[in-house]
Amino acid sequence: MNKKTIPMLFLFIIAVIIASGLSEKTTSAQEKDVQKPKISCITAQCHATMGKEKFVHGPVSAGECTVCHGEVSKHKDKPEQNKFGKVKDVANKCYSCHEKFKAKKYIHSPVEEGECMACHSPHGSQNKFQLLAKGSELCFNCHDEGMVGGAFVHGPAAVGGCVACHDPHTADYAKNLKEEGPSLCYMCHVDKAEAIHKAEFVHKPVAEKCTSCHNPHSAAKQFMLQSQSPALCLDCHKDKKEQLSTASVKHGAMETERSCLNCHDAHVSNIAKNLLMEPMDLCMSCHDREYKRNNGTAVMNISKWLKENTDHHGPIKQKDCSGCHNPHGSANFRILRNPYPPTFYMPFSVDNYNLCFSCHEKTIVLNAETTKLTNFRNGNDNLHFTHVNKAEKGRTCRACHETHASNFPKHIREAVPFGAWDLPVNFQKTDTGGSCTPGCHKIKKYDRVKKEING
Ligand code: HEC
Ligand code: HEC
Ligand code: HEC
Ligand code: HEC
Ligand code: HEC
Ligand code: HEC
Ligand code: HEC
Ligand code: HEC
Ligand code: HEC
Ligand code: HEC
Ligand code: HEC
Ligand code: HEC
Ligand code: HEC
Repeated sequence: MNKKTIPMLFLFIIAVIIASGLSEKTTSAQEKDVQKPKISCITAQCHATMGKEKFVHGPVSAGECTVCHGEVSKHKDKPEQNKFGKVKDVANKCYSCHEKFKAKKYIHSPVEEGECMACHSPHGSQNKFQLLAKGSELCFNCHDEGMVGGAFVHGPAAVGGCVACHDPHTADYAKNLKEEGPSLCYMCHVDKAEAIHKAEFVHKPVAEKCTSCHNPHSAAKQFMLQSQSPALCLDCHKDKKEQLSTASVKHGAMETERSCLNCHDAHVSNIAKNLLMEPMDLCMSCHDREYKRNNGTAVMNISKWLKENTDHHGPIKQKDCSGCHNPHGSANFRILRNPYPPTFYMPFSVDNYNLCFSCHEKTIVLNAETTKLTNFRNGNDNLHFTHVNKAEKGRTCRACHETHASNFPKHIREAVPFGAWDLPVNFQKTDTGGSCTPGCHKIKKYDRVKKEING
């Protein structure tokens, strides 16, 4: 907008209006008004509507036309010569009675230009403060109404309360805002201020700038969000975006509508990483039931399993499901953080077991003989090596171990799924060894002290 054209245009229009026809009106005003000893311009014939508006400017209701317009010289016969005072230097006229706004750091452009009349009538109007229009209509005389055109409009903007946040004249903060950053929002959202001050973990952008996620006026998404989770989150969390796009195994929790918000609070939390609950409770809030995958197979009810199998694996005792699973998705089977074979047999490579070996010593499967690396040995024969470390049909850990919990010692399984059949393991532990009678061979024993000879 050309800042110069507005005052020029105003002055011109007003000058034309005044020059063209005020003479008669002013003459009769003088005669009729009995209440006011001085000349009044308001009579039944002249300026009759003046002062009848709902909100009348102080000097107008006092009949003080001349304080602004100056003395009127009347030429009843030659109205074109009437000199009804054209108000010069309007803003300073206003300031002659009103204290001049102490210019703060930011001044609204029309105020800076002295265009008080762009918003106020000098005489009166239907709106408080003699404003030319009500609420946001006033602002939309110059600003694009599209800002409240989103499907979800912020309460105060919807009811025209623009000046709840913006000072129409001058303010200390950019965009003529009355407060800066979250403090602006806390003027009304007192509960949020309280929650944020009390919380142990505050999401960084929340502490700094609410408007990095919320539009203060309106937006297409609920809560005037610029976009929705996950896109909203991934706009900033570029590394996560990268991670998600490369994750071939997706987690169901990410795929539902709330996505990130299934697990994280967008604002605050008393739990690290802004989690909604303690990490394991969070997992259990969903994994306390069975799910069906798209391919029809079932995802077991982990909560039930942990209740029925009382010897829990170390990380589960530490309530750390994320030690093995990446809740955001992964390139590995079952969103595991590291590779782990999905099958009963697998040609041996130590890297296939990086999951287990991120916490356990890989030497348990590397040395054919040992006196101490593992307790799963017959004499000095390392039975982990025997079973696992085979070029073709190496048994994977799952052949014997249950990863979450079991009722057998050393997390040995009760049964192993082998094709369509659950092979029972029948593990028996002794002080110096153990035995099993699985479906795949007859009873076999091992003893670390006195090597067993299995037939
Ligand atoms: C606070 C200052 C102020 C007072 C008081 C005031 N006016 Fe005005 N008036 C203005 C300004 C400013 C304009 C428009 C600019 C100009 O005329 O140069 C204006 C314009 C006018 C106009 C022409 C445009 C229009 O609005 O119709 C008339 C007529 C008018 N005034 C009449 C009056 C009368 C009658 C009174 C007293 C009852 C009065 N004014 C009191 C400031 C004032
Ligand atoms: C001759 C002195 C005088 C001039 C000049 C004057 N005003 Fe006023 N104005 C007053 C008085 C008196 C009131 C009534 C104050 C009250 O009711 O508390 C008032 C009230 C107002 C109000 C309402 C304030 C409120 O709190 O309700 C606004 C807005 C206003 N004037 C704007 C202007 C503008 C804009 C100009 C210049 C075009 C101007 N005034 C020029 C004397 C003046
Ligand atoms: C962009 C529109 C706009 C312009 C330009 C503007 N005002 Fe205002 N003014 C308002 C609004 C809106 C309010 C009511 C504020 C509120 O409700 O808190 C107001 C209120 C006022 C008030 C009464 C309340 C207060 O803050 O003291 C006065 C006096 C006033 N304006 C004078 C002026 C003067 C003098 C000028 C020119 C220097 C001016 N205004 C220019 C919009 C404007
Ligand atoms: C007479 C025209 C006019 C009216 C009415 C008007 N504005 Fe403005 N406003 C402007 C102009 C001109 C600018 C400067 C635009 C720019 O720099 O891009 C501006 C800028 C702004 C800005 C941005 C300031 C910045 O630093 O970028 C805000 C916020 C604003 N106006 C709010 C309001 C509100 C709220 C209202 C209603 C109370 C309102 N305006 C009414 C003309 C107006
Ligand atoms: C809840 C507080 C709030 C309300 C209510 C509000 N605004 Fe704003 N407005 C802001 C904030 C905050 C910004 C700065 C946004 C930014 O920097 O991203 C802003 C920016 C603006 C701007 C500058 C242009 C822009 O988009 O950056 C204009 C113009 C504006 N608002 C006009 C209005 C109008 C007109 C209304 C009433 C319909 C209104 N505002 C209501 C808080 C508010
Ligand atoms: C002038 C008071 C006021 C200010 C300042 C304010 N708000 Fe609001 N806000 C409201 C009102 C009123 C509602 C509507 C409440 C409702 O619908 O329950 C609302 C609603 C909201 C909502 C939607 C809530 C819901 O349940 O639908 C969000 C999000 C919001 N505000 C964010 C903000 C942000 C961000 C800021 C700062 C930029 C802010 N508000 C500043 C008054 C305000
Ligand atoms: C990182 C993005 C982000 C930031 C920054 C942010 N919010 Fe939100 N906000 C959201 C999301 C996402 C929702 C929707 C939550 C939901 O659906 O459960 C929301 C919802 C809201 C709501 C309505 C629901 C509720 O929780 O009451 C309000 C009010 C709100 N935010 C205010 C604020 C305020 C005030 C700030 C700054 C102190 C802020 N927000 C900063 C993302 C954000
Ligand atoms: C405006 C940018 C922005 C948006 C949008 C955003 N974040 Fe953040 N987020 C950050 C920043 C900055 C940090 C602090 C990172 C740091 O300290 O290293 C952070 C931290 C986090 C953390 C904690 C990380 C830690 O190590 O403690 C989580 C969890 C998080 N964000 C989740 C989300 C979620 C979920 C969303 C979407 C609702 C989201 N973020 C949207 C910028 C953003
Ligand atoms: C199923 C629950 C869940 C979902 C859904 C989820 N997260 Fe997380 N997120 C976690 C857990 C648990 C942690 C802490 C453990 C960890 O570091 O992996 C975490 C940590 C984070 C961290 C900080 C550590 C890191 O990995 O950088 C960020 C940032 C984060 N999440 C962002 C997101 C974003 C963005 C989304 C949505 C795209 C999302 N999360 C969805 C559970 C979830
Ligand atoms: C909001 C609910 C929800 C939460 C919270 C949740 N999950 Fe899930 N999870 C699911 C759904 C739904 C599936 C089934 C997805 C499918 O269709 O493959 C699933 C599947 C899984 C799978 C199997 C993946 C596959 O490839 O078959 C694992 C492992 C898993 N979740 C671990 C976790 C862990 C660990 C946590 C806690 C950090 C967690 N989940 C939190 C909903 C959730
Ligand atoms: C020591 C690593 C580890 C820990 C800790 C762990 N998991 Fe797992 N989880 C696995 C492995 C390995 C699989 C794949 C098992 C298989 O297919 O035999 C798996 C599979 C799953 C599945 C898919 C089950 C199915 O039916 O396919 C879910 C769901 C799951 N885990 C959830 C959890 C939850 C919840 C926790 C925390 C209570 C957790 N996991 C802790 C390693 C772990
Ligand atoms: C996140 C770390 C972690 C991962 C990954 C992990 N474990 Fe463990 N594991 C532990 C901890 C901690 C213990 C408890 C050790 C203790 O009590 O001394 C443990 C105990 C065991 C035990 C019982 C040991 C004993 O002496 O009672 C077995 C068997 C076992 N893990 C097998 C596995 C297998 C198989 C895998 C791969 C599927 C695996 N673990 C992955 C941390 C892990
Ligand atoms: C053929 C069955 C079988 C296979 C396959 C197997 N284990 Fe074991 N594992 C055992 C038995 C039995 C024990 C208990 C030994 C004892 O304490 O008597 C054991 C014990 C362990 C222990 C406890 C420490 C130790 O070595 O005594 C860990 C850790 C372990 N196994 C990890 C693994 C990992 C990792 C894999 C896959 C790479 C694996 N196991 C494969 C049967 C097996």
